[in-house]
Amino acid sequence: EKGGFESFMDKEIHDQPHAVADTLLGRTDASGRIVLDDLRIDESLLRAVDKIIVVACGTAAYAGHVAKYAIEHWCRIPVEVELAHEFRYRDPIVDAGTLVVAISQSGETMDTLMAVRHAREQGAKVIAVVNTNGSTIPRESDAVLYTHAGPEIAVASTKAFLAQITAAYVLGLYLAQLRGNKFPDEIAATFDELRDMSRKVQTVIERGEYVRATARSMADADKVLFLGRHVGYPVAMEGALKLKELAYIHAEGFAAGELKHGPIALIDEGQPVFVVVPSPRGRDQLHSKVVSNIQEIRARGARTLVIAEDGDDEVRKYADEVFWIPKAPTLLQPLLAVVPLQIFAMALATAKGLDVDQPRNLAKSVTVE
Ligand code: M6R
Repeated sequence: EKGGFESFMDKEIHDQPHAVADTLLGRTDASGRIVLDDLRIDESLLRAVDKIIVVACGTAAYAGHVAKYAIEHWCRIPVEVELAHEFRYRDPIVDAGTLVVAISQSGETMDTLMAVRHAREQGAKVIAVVNTNGSTIPRESDAVLYTHAGPEIAVASTKAFLAQITAAYVLGLYLAQLRGNKFPDEIAATFDELRDMSRKVQTVIERGEYVRATARSMADADKVLFLGRHVGYPVAMEGALKLKELAYIHAEGFAAGELKHGPIALIDEGQPVFVVVPSPRGRDQLHSKVVSNIQEIRARGARTLVIAEDGDDEVRKYADEVFWIPKAPTLLQPLLAVVPLQIFAMALATAKGLDVDQPRNLAKSVTVE
């Protein structure tokens, strides 16, 4: 069943190009328009939505954080992302103009299910972005947009994360199309770029051996930090989560801009720090800001492990290790940048002799509150 791989997790990492491609399959018509036939919510309601709240837990919540950047950019609708178990207990402002998007691989996470029920009681419409057919969350939601990652067996979520980002992006583009926020040719062009990500994810996986070798050399690390900005920030948090749950190493993801507000005090000689570097071709000086962050932590002794885009010569000067990923538009970069972090956590856990498919204290789906 592992298809010749060492673990289900390894197999599922290798399934990721398919998870992205399959989640996009059948989502456009011959003219390139996005069609979401399975989304049985009145179009007029979707046009009138004035707020989106994503509810999810763990990795699915990080997918929601990534999606927030894209959906707000494309649709100009405010998007909040809330951990499902916090949502219900804070008297959230939810009404008929709110669209709640519940993201879950299993479709059985009790915290997320309770958030769905709460949102619907307040009159919100709920779209479930779920991987498991016929599970409870889609049954209790108004509509479902399935991710087509295939069964995910390993406790640590990998391919579901890529599929969740992909599906949430399809939803964002669909809303932009419906509400006229973007021209049809812009939407079609972005969709094509999304489709092209499958091939690029494959390239990152093929470069995995260098990541594995680096991980093996770091089996005695006792704390690892992860930095990112913009969509790289949730990727940093996801990288940290993978390392905690698989390798039992204290790991934390930060927004790189937050460094000087406290976390930089953690840096001392030899401290490993992963940095997700935005594309140098992007706008907003994001790239140069992150390069300065790398210089700051390096000056304080950090060992910098950098995820950077092919051809980024600037970053090469300041990094101890570089894990290269293909060029991609900024909003799509998370689909690539997370892959070395997944491989790193898996390889480090393996080097420590741990069971990567079944880490201690964890269950694949958390069906209790
Ligand atoms: O099945 P779900 O997507 O609702 O699960 C949510 C989290 O429990 C899950 O992502 C968890 O954080 C994973 N173990 C992360 O790898």
